Amino acid sequence: MIKDNVRDALNAQMNREFFSSFLYLSMPAYFESVNLRGFARWMQVQAQEEHGHGMKFYGYLVEQGARVALEAIEAPQTEWTNPLAAFEHALGHEQKVTARIHDLMELAMSEMDHATSGFLQWFVSEQVEEEAVASEIVFKMKLASAEKGAVLLYLLDHELGKRGKSA
Ligand SMILES: [Fe+2]
Ligand SMILES: [Fe+2]
Repeated sequence: MIKDNVRDALNAQMNREFFSSFLYLSMPAYFESVNLRGFARWMQVQAQEEHGHGMKFYGYLVEQGARVALEAIEAPQTEWTNPLAAFEHALGHEQKVTARIHDLMELAMSEMDHATSGFLQWFVSEQVEEEAVASEIVFKMKLASAEKGAVLLYLLDHELGKRGKSA
């Protein structure tokens, strides 16, 4: 059993995760329009992941016997000035999501809701990864446009990254 304020906060985060999915479905539509199909593919997978995050909240609410309350999803941005701007937007968005997850964790802790704290721990770790991945992409995109030879450096990095464990 969870308290009403925790239930409402979990529902709010569930709706935000569905918005993230919508935002990340809008970005590939933009990438397709500039013929960046790999970027589009990556972001479509990201949109599916965010849908999965929303469903984790949905499932947890159901498991706790709490009512799921879906809300209207805000229309996402549809245009970006360039691909880097889209990824910078994604990074900024993830940083905001991290702050909301932390707020939620603090609420669960102040209510001594151990089950919800445990449930949220997965999201705390997930956000560390989400921010790390998005900032790595932003960093590489900036480098690619700023430095000659950066593309070859990426290819070499990719090559070195394929090394297996030492025997
Ligand atoms: Fe998420
Ligand atoms: Fe995310």
